Amino acid sequence: MTSLMKITTSIQNRYNKLKLKRGSLLSARGSSASDFEPYLAACRNAATTDGFNSFRKNFEYRRILEHVSIEDGRELLDIASKRFPEYPWNEFRRNDEFGGAETVEYGRLGNFTPTTNRYIKILSDIELLFGDLNGKRIVEIGGGYGGQARIIHARFTPKSYTIVDLPDPAALTRRYLDCFGLSNITVTSRISKPDMAPDLVISNYALSEIRRKIQNEYLNAYALQSKHGYMIWNVKALTKGRLWRYHHPMSDRELRKRVGGTIISTSPWLTSEDLAIGNSLVVWGTKAAM
Ligand SMILES: C[S@@+](CC[C@H](N)C(=O)[O-])C[C@H]1O[C@@H](n2cnc3c(N)ncnc32)[C@H](O)[C@@H]1O
Repeated sequence: MTSLMKITTSIQNRYNKLKLKRGSLLSARGSSASDFEPYLAACRNAATTDGFNSFRKNFEYRRILEHVSIEDGRELLDIASKRFPEYPWNEFRRNDEFGGAETVEYGRLGNFTPTTNRYIKILSDIELLFGDLNGKRIVEIGGGYGGQARIIHARFTPKSYTIVDLPDPAALTRRYLDCFGLSNITVTSRISKPDMAPDLVISNYALSEIRRKIQNEYLNAYALQSKHGYMIWNVKALTKGRLWRYHHPMSDRELRKRVGGTIISTSPWLTSEDLAIGNSLVVWGTKAAM
């Protein structure tokens, strides 16, 4: 082998090694910020074992969900209770009967988990922005364990409600929703255009965390088919992570352009904690002036 050939081979080998590293990194990181084994294993455990009784205290699970602070929980409950004092608080409280949730006493409204308060506040946003959800077709992308879906069903009776999530979180969601007899809610891991266009697509702290190529699949299948949408976009906080650039997720401005919506980045639509880390809300097809 000539010395020139040796140099070329050595460069080629280094390049291949780099490619391999990058490839395994990408596949290890999966489709989104939460598509990684410790979280998926926690979901699997909760979906199939007695771990269900304590998953909301599980460390790996709480790195992804169930980490709203007590203070943020207070702000969220204050906003919702001022807007809709007539809400069915005791019915909402039932969200915390499963999963070993640690509740906090919030004055006259009693005990809730801060995360349930977030789901209640989001319901109040959606109600102000879009009105009555009875008889509507709703799709939620990345629904956690189904807490938001359950809160919406405690107030309204949508015509259909579909949650799309990864297989392990989806199995946990099914188990959680079955505790409330909500078998009418469809939980799936397949992205596919529904026969009837949705009336409303929701995705909070979820579609914003997903790799751009898959974001586009979700947009084409659901969001761009729907006249109304509500998405809390937490991409700014995530993009600070060094490896995040491989997912190359859309900014809130790009999303707004695609869906023809509005970006909201003010209180009370977002809490102090949301605003502190640059989260925004992207909505379209709203009835309320903002
Ligand atoms: C931070 S959690 C937010 C959950 C819920 N929306 C909430 O507000 O509590 C992100 C959610 O996105 C889901 N997720 C991750 N990758 C996904 C993907 N490729 N497709 C759909 N959902 C995904 C996670 O399983 C999880 O349910």
